[in-house]
Amino acid sequence: MVPSLAEMAVTNPRLTKDVLSRVITFANGKGGVGKTSCSANFAGLCAAAGWTVLFVDFDAQGDAGNDLGYKDTEDNDRGAHMLQVLDAHKPLQPVLRQVRPNLDVIPMGRRMLKMIEHVLEGKRQRGTEFRLMLAEALAPIARDYDLIVIDTPPDRPDVLQLVFGATRWLVIPTKSDRSSIGNLQDLSEELEEVRHANPDIEILGVVPYDFDTNAGRIKRNAIEDIHAVLGDASDVFYDADDEVVFIRHSNAAVDARNAGKLVHELAEMAQDEEEPWWQALREGRKVDRIPGSVGGLAGDHLLLTNAILTRINSFEEAQESA
Ligand SMILES: Nc1ncnc2c1ncn2[C@@H]1O[C@H](COP(=O)(O)OP(=O)(O)O)[C@@H](O)[C@H]1O
Ligand SMILES: [Mg+2]
Repeated sequence: MVPSLAEMAVTNPRLTKDVLSRVITFANGKGGVGKTSCSANFAGLCAAAGWTVLFVDFDAQGDAGNDLGYKDTEDNDRGAHMLQVLDAHKPLQPVLRQVRPNLDVIPMGRRMLKMIEHVLEGKRQRGTEFRLMLAEALAPIARDYDLIVIDTPPDRPDVLQLVFGATRWLVIPTKSDRSSIGNLQDLSEELEEVRHANPDIEILGVVPYDFDTNAGRIKRNAIEDIHAVLGDASDVFYDADDEVVFIRHSNAAVDARNAGKLVHELAEMAQDEEEPWWQALREGRKVDRIPGSVGGLAGDHLLLTNAILTRINSFEEAQESA
């Protein structure tokens, strides 16, 4: 009998590493910190740039379905397929194909995630290692994609362990106040818990989310706090000018989610619809504020996407030359 990936990975950790080296998970034990917004926009921007992407939703709220606009479509199985995969060992397939060009999705919903938790709980009680089940399910289709992006729920430790078992790179969005950063200690402990099953998981970087763009001092403190909690190996992301990459506070995020659009899509639509901001000035009409809000937020997500890909690339290059 051919040994399963989970069995082989115990003796050969490199196996999961090679097949699943591009699994990027957005996690933080807390809710409302930008996991879904960042992961959905990252996946969508990568797909728009030409990478083939599989987005795997493990968030009970299924908010990614709002951001990507598939929430109320007929084909949204709200996690039924993933439950079958984990419970009955059905082969994993993308449920929603081409949600955008190059972007496939495996959706999730509250009910199915609860049932998945039951499955994991059962395995735990029987002493069965469940942490590599998702890795094992993803491995056969991983080569169809350049990137696999996973969104996670808050407060569901077993689900998080399952996802971490399949994760190469962890991206952590967080609010930038001291207490939110302090809470990352819990996440760091969950990470250590999974390490014996998946030694390859690493924190790629931390993203200050919902950021007050004018607060330079807060920015510096936040970075120091992040180092203090997660260790010096963990850092925020930087852009080409060495500026910290953050996601600013902007109501455009809510508008985008309500419209079933990613932020850059909303920005493109706004550009199409709106007259140039200088038109009113030139014609002596009432001048509105410059429509920069959605553009600014779209720019933040673009910088973040670029920074994530750049950092993965530099790790991969270093590994190849090692
Ligand atoms: N840049 C932003 N500024 C303000 N609100 C935002 C921003 N990005 C997302 N939001 C809103 O904040 C809430 C939480 O974001 P979300 O990405 O769903 O967090 P999580 O997945 O961690 O729970 C959502 O209602 C979302 O629409
Ligand atoms: Mg979420």
